[in-house]
Amino acid sequence: MSPDGFERPVWSVNGQHPGPLIQANKGDRLVINVTNHFDDPATVHWHGMFQHGTNWYDGVPGQTQCPIPNDVSLVYNFSTTDQHGTYWYHSHFFAQYVDGLRGSLVVHDPDDPYLNQYDFEYLVVLSDWHHNTTGVLLPLQDAPGYSGLRPIPDSPLISGLGRYNCTAAPPGSKCNSNQPLAVYNVKKNKKYRFRIINSSADGVFVFSIDQHKLKVIEADGIYLKPTIIKKLPVAVGQRYSVIVDANQPVGNYFIRGTLDKRCTPINNATINFNSAIDWNGLGILHYEGAINRPNSKEFDDDFTPCRDLDKKHLNPIKPITKYDGHVTDFVNITITFGRDKNQRLKALINNSSFVPQMNDPTVNKITRDIDAKDLPKDQNSVIFNHNGGIAEIYVKNNNGADHPFHMHGHVFAIMYVGEKGEVHDKSKYNKRNPVVRDTLTIPGNGFVVIRFITDNPGVWAFHCHIEWHVELGMVLGIIELQDTLKKETIPEDVVALCLEHDLQKRTTRRM
Ligand code: C2O
Ligand code: CU
Repeated sequence: MSPDGFERPVWSVNGQHPGPLIQANKGDRLVINVTNHFDDPATVHWHGMFQHGTNWYDGVPGQTQCPIPNDVSLVYNFSTTDQHGTYWYHSHFFAQYVDGLRGSLVVHDPDDPYLNQYDFEYLVVLSDWHHNTTGVLLPLQDAPGYSGLRPIPDSPLISGLGRYNCTAAPPGSKCNSNQPLAVYNVKKNKKYRFRIINSSADGVFVFSIDQHKLKVIEADGIYLKPTIIKKLPVAVGQRYSVIVDANQPVGNYFIRGTLDKRCTPINNATINFNSAIDWNGLGILHYEGAINRPNSKEFDDDFTPCRDLDKKHLNPIKPITKYDGHVTDFVNITITFGRDKNQRLKALINNSSFVPQMNDPTVNKITRDIDAKDLPKDQNSVIFNHNGGIAEIYVKNNNGADHPFHMHGHVFAIMYVGEKGEVHDKSKYNKRNPVVRDTLTIPGNGFVVIRFITDNPGVWAFHCHIEWHVELGMVLGIIELQDTLKKETIPEDVVALCLEHDLQKRTTRRM
């Protein structure tokens, strides 16, 4: 495929990139047959879905399942229960989603308080895009002495489309500089809900539509008090819904999905690959009947660069008070980088770097039955066993980069986000009306305090969603309610993935 005009192999879903939209209604059960026709093993994670009672369908190799080998199928089967909103799905095996295995998942809500406020809805899937496969990119960061700077992408994509300047493409490549842009059709005076997903490997996107303000109504599946902004920063893994009023003169307007390079460490002396990226991804908002070429002007910034949308814009529609109470479990975690004995870069959480145990059929069992302190050092985990309790995690970032952390199996309440140099003052916690979501940015050299309710038995990943950092081991396991876990039986087809097949098939990366 040639998402930005440059042809390369793409790990597609049903022949598409991004993969097909999966839609359900609140309460529906999703039954999804995943057949792996890649040469590599694969898994699919349903980002944001709680998987209550179905931890084994969370799709994390080395934590909840063994990967699906080549030419083998697994039926994922889980209920949306009472969740609704904007989600996505992606491979959790190596950096496969960066090569294309990703798509959108929308759970509609018949009781949606905003249902009457828009006429139609659209999806905007933002992603950074590389011309090299991750099979080429990942070994670079595994090399001894690697500096730690991340690969610079070649294009921003809006819903799978971008435009690369092919004069910069290496000789012999197939490249077309006039790739069509994503076009969103609107009718004058109608209102549109845009669901915006950042499915990147790394980059912070800023979404905006020239001359059209955005009314934000959802973040990561949580309804918000409506708030009007001009530009929406979206970190990797985060989702938003905004309502756009097509109330401007009939015309064509630029939709902007800008990769914010202020948030990407750039040093020309390092890897990449002579990226000729144009950071300003474009799409078109097309009013019915418009014939002009778009020449609209971008809004000025109204947000803090490289930070999540300010909490003043993220008030849940009704204050969520259940996180204000006695904390039953508290853990401290520290993020940093280090080097192994071969001078290879490793991401460390509490001094250990996560290595998925891909071919250990007992992996689920191990994490269920033993004490976190007895886990192998590369399976670093924390245990929360107070049924219905309030768990609090203090995360200290001892590294200068921002890290967008995502928690599986939960949303969490954000008690505090501390910038570099701020003191950790518990009296400042936002207990009354916290932001609740499943992915937040931890500022460089700063810290965050989050809380969640321990009501979902499972082994859940808590990790940086910068895929390069996942591969360096920036993953923690949350082991929750072991007593219940021990009583649950993992379905046979999931267990079989760990047993039946040639181990080589599961662990060897071919591309
Ligand atoms: Cu998008 Cu581990 O998640
Ligand atoms: Cu990170």
